Order: sequence, then structure tokens, then C-alpha cells
Amino acid sequence: MKEMLKTLQDRRDRAVLGGGQARIDAQHTRGKLTARERIDLLLDHGSFEEFDMFVQHRSTDFGMDKGEKIPGDGVVTGWGTVNGRTVFVYAKDFTVFGGSLSETHAQKIMKIQDMALKNRAPIIGLFDAGGARIQEGVAALGGYAEVFQRNVMASGVIPQISVIMGPCAGGDVYSPAMTDFIFMVRDTSYMFVTGPDVVKTVTNETVTAEELGGASVHTTKSSVADRAYDNDLEALLQMRRLIDFLPSSNRDDVPEWPSFDDAERLDKSLDTLIPDNPNKPYDIRELILKVADEGDFFEIQGAHAANIVTGFGRIEGRSVGFVANQPLVLAGVLDSDASRKAARFVRFCDAFNIPIVTFVDVPGFLPGTAQEYGGLIKHGAKLLFAYAEATVPKVTVITRKAFGGAYDVMASKHLRGDFNYAWPTAQIAVMGAKGAVEIIFRADIKDAEKIAVRTKEYEDRFLSPFAAAERGYIDEVIMPHATRKRLARALAMLRHKDVENPWKKHDNIPL
Ligand code: HXC
Repeated sequence: MKEMLKTLQDRRDRAVLGGGQARIDAQHTRGKLTARERIDLLLDHGSFEEFDMFVQHRSTDFGMDKGEKIPGDGVVTGWGTVNGRTVFVYAKDFTVFGGSLSETHAQKIMKIQDMALKNRAPIIGLFDAGGARIQEGVAALGGYAEVFQRNVMASGVIPQISVIMGPCAGGDVYSPAMTDFIFMVRDTSYMFVTGPDVVKTVTNETVTAEELGGASVHTTKSSVADRAYDNDLEALLQMRRLIDFLPSSNRDDVPEWPSFDDAERLDKSLDTLIPDNPNKPYDIRELILKVADEGDFFEIQGAHAANIVTGFGRIEGRSVGFVANQPLVLAGVLDSDASRKAARFVRFCDAFNIPIVTFVDVPGFLPGTAQEYGGLIKHGAKLLFAYAEATVPKVTVITRKAFGGAYDVMASKHLRGDFNYAWPTAQIAVMGAKGAVEIIFRADIKDAEKIAVRTKEYEDRFLSPFAAAERGYIDEVIMPHATRKRLARALAMLRHKDVENPWKKHDNIPL
């Protein structure tokens, strides 16, 4: 028995070494942790249970049958807990064939994906890998497709999170692209379908890995990634924080954590958040931070389309998704990027039973050829579609402007908003006073006095919440300082909301 235990321990020790000490050291020198070190930081201490530690590849081409076969085959898989809640995890081991995916490596991931789906728990992939194992050819490609298929089957059923922690290419970017969130580590992680060398050969462009697919590119320009962190440690600790906001599956309620923040808390400073001058910006994040429990807000895509803010917070210890126009950036206008960003977030919340709180201060959709040529009609429609199909509790507060189509889109009463509140500073109209008067009183445009009178008339009639409140489109005009209390009460009332859309195979959201 002693001998057997020793053999097992020796085999385990060998597997833990992955591609060997020299490659582990190289990983550390690059500022990266190893797959197992990452898992240890992600999960509750000592909770990791590993699967398939001894799996080996079966390839014989290109000398793959020579030399030692490394147990584990470039990916560490298993499950554990984050603050006591089960999560499944797989981490690419860059020290073994650059973390590339072989047939057996794929089978390990597939097993974890199947387990996660069957047991309805989130799955987190830690990526640091060079795509398909080149020596295995179509066996590796087939393996990827099996992983992709499972990504799609799990989409909307369990949360899927990808963290990019090294250079990732090929299938190691497509699988993350089908998950709910992608996070990157600054300076050490890259994502591209084809790397700089292939780019040079095909298009003759000279580009560095950072310029092609670094964290700054993907969190700002491409919006492929949701957020970036300075190092592995920070990224992993933030993933623990994110998991705490998410339900384990689409059949579970949001997690409920103890909150020490009074749900009835009033905040007098909100009464002066809106500047006297309606064209002056203010930071809508201030409102989010002041209404969320303990000011805790996990922002998604903060560096992209900053004219809309999206992210998770809690009220009375339960997760909510915040969507808010940001007057600080482009006056909070809705453009294609902002619409796509918010639509995806709204759909995530709806899929996972997370109530949506929407703060509205929007002057409309952004006019211009750049937007129209870029498909604003379709992108704007995504957000409209997402809000309209969402059946989770929807609570909306119009803080200032709600103009034109953007009024409709931003979780209005007409899109089945459950609670539609407005602050006394709200202005709900087809457009601002100047534009409106210039159109409907065009004949008097040269008569400054008349125009001034008409403008005042328009402002009095429409640039307030009352025209909408008179029709019941606004349920109540609320005091800004009481916003948290009103939200808490609304969300508590809506806890058992039960609305179903008509049966369909799936909808046809404009893509
Ligand atoms: C086999 C690979 C590999 C791969 C890397 N390695 N990628 N082995 N298959 N795909 C091995 C290297 O040979 C090397 O082995 C070790 O991993 C580390 O790689 P380096 O190149 O030294 O590291 P680095 O300079 O950091 O570059 C990392 C990299 C680069 C950017 C990922 O290795 C690279 O470009 N790899 C190829 C990427 C690629 O084109 N993959 C196929 C994509 S197609 P040693 O023994 O020297 O340590 C694909 C199909 C699916 O994925 C598409 C689905 C839609």
C-alpha cells in the first residue's frame, strides 16, 4: 500500500510540474502565474477538486510519439467554490505545448462543460494558449467545435466567464467570444484570430501583438473584452467579486448577501445632482454609487461606449443590473456602440433573473452619416428589442432628459417597465425646446420675441415629468433623495414577478 501511495504521489507531483520548472520560471518571468496558481487564487482556499490530471494526448504525428507525454495535456480542469458557491473551472497550462488544444485536451474541457451544465453552476475558463495543437490537425479543430457547441448550449443557462491571461489565438479566442464576459490582463494578454506574423504575410501590415489584440484595444476599440486588470492576482480576485453578483443558473434566484446598508437610506446630496443649466453634464455614476448597497458597483465595459454605464450592484443584498445614460460623455446620447453594449447587458440580466434598474438622461440618438452608415437603426433596435423582451423586474428613473425614440427605448412604461419613476427635473418630450420650436414655428423664426414666448410655452408644457405623469406613463414623480428607498421597495414588491413571453423557438433580434 505504501508503495502504491508513493506511486500516486509521484504521478501527482509530476503532473503538477506541467511543462517543467524551466517553463514555469519563464511564465513567472513574464509576470504570469501558472494554471494551478491561478486556480488556487480564484477558488476558496483548498476547495479545488481536480479532474483528469493524468490524461495524455494520443497523437503520433510530427514526433509527438517520441519523448515524455506530459500528464494533464495542457489544461487543468475541475471544480471548487467561490465564497461557498460551486463553480467549474479550467485553466490553460501555457507550459505544455503553449496550452494548445489537442483532442484529449478538448475532451477534458468538454467534461467540465457538461458537468457545469448538468449541475447548473457557472464555468470559468482561464486562457493562456496558442489555439489548436498544430501537430494534431483536424482532431484539434474537431475538439474546438465540440467546445464551441457546448458554449452555445450553456449560453443563457449558466454564466460562462473567460479570463484572458496570456497570448491567445485561434480557437482560444472564439470560445471566449461565445461566453458571457471576457476579462483581460494588461500587458501580458492578447487576443487575435491570427497573430502578427500571419497578418504580415497576408496583408503586409506590420503590427505588434499589443496593437493587434492587447487589453487596451479590446476594452476600448473592439469591445471584445469587458474589462482589463493590471495583473493575474487582481483579475482573479475581481472574478470572485463578479461571481458573487451572479446566480448559479437561469433557474436560480440572484444570490442574497447580508447588507449593512439601510434600504431606507435617504441621500440629500442627490437633490442637487442635476445642475441648474440643463446642458451641463454630471456624473451618473454618482447616482449609481449612492443608491447601491455600500456603494459597491461592478462596472462592465466601462472603457467602451462610456456614454452609457452598465454594471452590477446590489439593493438590500440582492443583485441588480444598472443601465444608465452618462451625461458626462457625448451628453449621454445613444449611438451604435452604446446601444449594443447596453443591449447585451440587458439580455444577460434577463437571462439570469437579475432585475434591471435604468437611469435615463438621454438627448436622443446620435445623428449623422457615420452613425447611419454604421447601422444605427439596427444597433439601436437591439437595445429596444432587449428591453422589450426582458421579463425580469424593470425599474426606471428618468433624472433629466428623455427625448424622442430614446425615451421609448430606455425601459419606458410602453416596453413593460414595472415602475417608471421620474425626478422633478425630468424633461420628457419629442425633443428639446429649441429644436421643437424651430420646427413647429418655422414661420416665426425671425421674430425673436415670438420664438421666446413659444419656447417658454413648450418648456412649461413638455420639459417636465408631468405631461407623461398625467397619462400614467410615469407612475410617480419622486424625490431624488428618496431614490434608493423607492428602488428598494419596488424591487421587493417585484420579487415574485411572473411574466412569460409567447412560446417561440428563439427570437430574431437584429444582429
Ligand atoms: C502546438 C504550440 C502552439 C500550437 C504554441 N505552441 N502554439 N504548439 N500548437 N498551436 C508551443 C510552441 O511551439 C512553444 O513550444 C510553446 O508552445 C510556447 O510558444 P512560443 O511561441 O514560444 O510562445 P510565445 O512567443 O509567447 O507566442 C505565443 C503564441 C505563439 C502567440 C501563442 O506560440 C503562436 O502564434 N502560436 C500559434 C498560434 C496559432 O496560429 N494557432 C493555431 C490557430 S488555429 P516550446 O516547446 O518551444 O516551448 C485554431 C483553429 C481553431 O486555433 C479555430 C476555430 C474557429
